[in-house]
Amino acid sequence: MTDANPYLVAELIDAGLNRREARWLLEEFGADDHESIAALRRGAQRRLAGEPLQYVLGHWPFRSLDLDLDPRVLIPRPETEELVGVAIAELARADVTVPVIVDLGCGSGAIGLSLLAELLERGVVASLVAVDESLDALAVARHNAAKHGLHAVSFVQSSWFEALDRSLRGRVDLVVANPPYVGAEEFASLEPVLRYEPLGALVAGDTSATPGFADLEAIIVEAPSWLAPGGLLICEHGNMQRDAVLTTAVGAGFGDVRDLDDMSGWPRILVARRS
Ligand SMILES: C[S@@+](CC[C@H](N)C(=O)[O-])C[C@H]1O[C@@H](n2cnc3c(N)ncnc32)[C@H](O)[C@@H]1O
Repeated sequence: MTDANPYLVAELIDAGLNRREARWLLEEFGADDHESIAALRRGAQRRLAGEPLQYVLGHWPFRSLDLDLDPRVLIPRPETEELVGVAIAELARADVTVPVIVDLGCGSGAIGLSLLAELLERGVVASLVAVDESLDALAVARHNAAKHGLHAVSFVQSSWFEALDRSLRGRVDLVVANPPYVGAEEFASLEPVLRYEPLGALVAGDTSATPGFADLEAIIVEAPSWLAPGGLLICEHGNMQRDAVLTTAVGAGFGDVRDLDDMSGWPRILVARRS
């Protein structure tokens, strides 16, 4: 593949970007006039200063959707794409005709909006309640829903289930969540690039036995009272939290409880079905 503008690509590589990122930035900002070249150089400076490429570009693919992203929301991860795949397969098995889905901690809307879009492709019209305690995150999720023409969504500012409409109790077919699950101590040892993302999207309180488990525990314990009989809770969790999610889910009364590895072989996705 030849570079459309070899001089600008060379300039960006000289400045310290790798060729792939230089091409991406050029494709994003263009080089048609002084303004676009100035925007390209500003983007390159942000990237060179360490900002994640996804924020610099302002959007990133997640399964079938191109999601707009900025530092108000977490950058959705590949393992979360796997969670969506698991949820689609589980819903198909459950054979629910008009699923009611709650996405707790929706961030950019990655999980819930992907589910809506992919279920629609299969002829299934679901409804989604997208929940976040961050108004900023809800604004991004709302924007992404409009961008993709996904209208069967209500957006609720809430700490987990707290402000959900009581009429949903016992009626939800699927609760999905990728809550914060990194303990504060572990976070301090992680790569500095994570500091560009909202702290409240990543770091959770500890429980007596498990660092970073407080939000997952709150969700797992409360989910059964919102789920319909046979309803599913599917949650992403940390590498060291398998025992905690399984024990908590069994203790919360879920009948059928499994935990799946991600594609890198780490314990990652809790699948719990209400009896
Ligand atoms: C790990 S991010 C996940 C974002 C998105 N679901 C994804 O997978 O890319 C966690 C999200 O949970 C939200 N959050 C944190 N604490 C919350 C709480 N108590 N109630 C509701 N949302 C919360 C954060 O604002 C953030 O958007």
